[in-house]
Amino acid sequence: MSKVPSVYVGMSADLIHPGHINILEHASKLGDVTVGLLTDEAIASYKRLPHMTFEQRRTVVENLKAVSRVVPQETLDYVPNLRKLKPGYVVHGDDWRAGVQRETRQQVIDALKEWGGELVEVPYTQGISSTQLNESVKQIGTTPSVRLARLRRLIDSKPLVRIIEAHNGLTGLIAETTQVDRDGRMVEFDGMWSSSLTDSTSRGKPDIEAVDISSRLQTINDIFEVTTKPLIFDGDTGGKPEHFVFTVRSLERLGVSAVIIEDKEGLKRNSLFGTDVQQTQSSIEDFSARIEIGKQAQITDDFMIIARLESLILEHGMDDAVKRAQAYIDAGADAIMIHSRRKEPDEVFEFCRIAQTFDKRVPIVAVPSSYNAVSEEELADRGINVVIYANHMLRAAYPAMRKVAETILRNGRSLEADPLLAPISEALSIIPGNR
Ligand code: SPV
Ligand code: MG
Repeated sequence: MSKVPSVYVGMSADLIHPGHINILEHASKLGDVTVGLLTDEAIASYKRLPHMTFEQRRTVVENLKAVSRVVPQETLDYVPNLRKLKPGYVVHGDDWRAGVQRETRQQVIDALKEWGGELVEVPYTQGISSTQLNESVKQIGTTPSVRLARLRRLIDSKPLVRIIEAHNGLTGLIAETTQVDRDGRMVEFDGMWSSSLTDSTSRGKPDIEAVDISSRLQTINDIFEVTTKPLIFDGDTGGKPEHFVFTVRSLERLGVSAVIIEDKEGLKRNSLFGTDVQQTQSSIEDFSARIEIGKQAQITDDFMIIARLESLILEHGMDDAVKRAQAYIDAGADAIMIHSRRKEPDEVFEFCRIAQTFDKRVPIVAVPSSYNAVSEEELADRGINVVIYANHMLRAAYPAMRKVAETILRNGRSLEADPLLAPISEALSIIPGNR
């Protein structure tokens, strides 16, 4: 009896469409089909995280008629799995001959030669594509629970999660849609930060917890109306512990993924003032209790309570920061934000080095507003998991608006401000619904 050849098909299988079924049918005619299902990590290394989790995608693919079994493919590169399984055939759509996957294809061909395997390419199915389906899904939007869970998935699957501040629907849209080509790879923001500084500044108020929670939630509602990406909420000190319980639940209900609370008490001032203003750090016991109360209040498993250390901001030293980080992790903090207002990242990196020796390790968040020469690559190398660009949309808008106001006043008309403005046609086309 001759042995049935084994056939390998690599897939993300997020939005299964007739193009995938066509490839799998071709594959099953050649032999016994193993699908190498790309993990979230493998997919996030070159494009957006899939809508469905790995387990959800596995359930779908396992139940397709043409598939005998599913194995995880942990890298974009097929070769490690191919060397292990030594399939007779690899089947793929012929669309990968050009573009970003060209190199991956060549590596597959070279590996198959090692045991006399063959690459079979199936003509691309016209009229349907994952890119089109992804666009449609974006238009449909998301749900609170799907959005909420996305931050943890991103942290688990990317070397560095990239977050930008948003303080209204428009800045949310910029965070949602801005993409650029960086060295041949499309890069975009993974999520948004609702900053106390920019939310209060955009209302003309100081950053002293004077904007009430209902107003803060209204901003998030506006942002969520037009976006699908996850959001981290700047919870300031968390307020009174009895009130924090309600904040946590309200945030979860909206679909916010995480709250960051800082270990200060009394009148909170913005951290970037450092020791120029009077600020009081909470005791370890009080702040740990705040974390514990928040953790007990949350309903979902995915919501994160992130403890923010102000020790370096208040010049209380590295030992204090380390001691507090360990206590806050013990109290249940899901991650630590280490804040610094130095021009150089040295103290943040020193903290990361020490945090790697902790018995219980959690993700680390950095906000490089003052040490802004540091690259994302370096942050990731030093052990930072999440980078927040905390105030940049607001700081971009303010000088631009101020200059236009001055130009109109100086000239007694608006003609001279024209070069500083988006043309009306461009302003109208910012919002898709205007067209
Ligand atoms: C914010 O964006 O409001 C923050 C970060 O809390 S910082 O302004 O650096 O304190
Ligand atoms: Mg703040």
